[in-house]
Amino acid sequence: MPLVTSTEMFKKAYEGGYAIGAFNVNNMEIIQGIVEAAKEESAPLILQVSAGARKYANPIYLRKMVEAAVLDSNLPICLHLDHGDTYALCKDSIDGGFSSVMIDASHYSLQENIRITKEVVKYAHDHNVVVEAELGRLAGIEDAINVSAKDASYTNPDDVQEFVTKTGVDSLAIAIGTSHGAYKFKPGTKPQLRFDVLEEVERRLPGFPIVLHGSSSVPPQLVKTINEFGGAMPDAIGIPEEMLRRAASMAVCKINIDSDLRLACTAAIRQHFAENPSHFDPRQYLGPAREAVKQIVKHKLINVLGCNGRA
Ligand code: G3H
Ligand code: 13P
Ligand code: ZN
Repeated sequence: MPLVTSTEMFKKAYEGGYAIGAFNVNNMEIIQGIVEAAKEESAPLILQVSAGARKYANPIYLRKMVEAAVLDSNLPICLHLDHGDTYALCKDSIDGGFSSVMIDASHYSLQENIRITKEVVKYAHDHNVVVEAELGRLAGIEDAINVSAKDASYTNPDDVQEFVTKTGVDSLAIAIGTSHGAYKFKPGTKPQLRFDVLEEVERRLPGFPIVLHGSSSVPPQLVKTINEFGGAMPDAIGIPEEMLRRAASMAVCKINIDSDLRLACTAAIRQHFAENPSHFDPRQYLGPAREAVKQIVKHKLINVLGCNGRA
């Protein structure tokens, strides 16, 4: 089976009231951990590559490893460009064999976002590739860009029909209060998401797949493990899992998770070295990191996304 687009996955997810996990990948162990989990749980998968991951690993290595994952697992896997910020980057990913791209022009005006997104959609659709775009702006850190809470903005439901109709985009990421990175809410405050915005978007775009970025739940036990073994991660708070489950039961068909995989990897490696200070073979600490990624992904597939058994 070749790489697939997300079209069929989203259709089934929308109808079934669950979401597909979109996990960020940067190296072989992360890819293997995610794919092993999906294989055991028979779950469809989106593996996504950011501009930073492309720089770190070289996209051809990541693509070939993802192709190996398809052969190894026989699962429907979509290879997606995460937060493409230019037409050129999206085109390069399409030419390089990705089956899905995100054009993130959400920091521009509505009309400029429409213009750029439409251009990407034209090229992508001519090559049988699907496109995700974004309306509204999340807070947090992606790549080197740090969007402060005051520069973040919720999606305006009044814009979504015009945006989708004029661009021809295949899915839409919206801002309802999730944010990138491990520090999503201030300690002592109650995490809130704007489900009213999601409901209104759903009403305006019936049947249309919605995407949630910044959806790590930042499991406190992983933060605790990192801290216990010499790290320093004060005050990290993620999205409560019941909120993600609620979103998945609504129009949200794709939920993006990266920080939780980073936390799982780092916790496993810190713990490994604390317990085995003399180890120096990378397999000795990358093996446990891969296993930790597998376990957190299994948990997400079953308890958060509900896409287990849906491949
Ligand atoms: O939304 C951003 C993802 O977490 C990717 O992060 O740009 O550091 O690879 P990155
Ligand atoms: P987290 O930082 O919450 O994992 O979000 C990842 C993301 O949105 C990737 O696009
Ligand atoms: Zn994101």
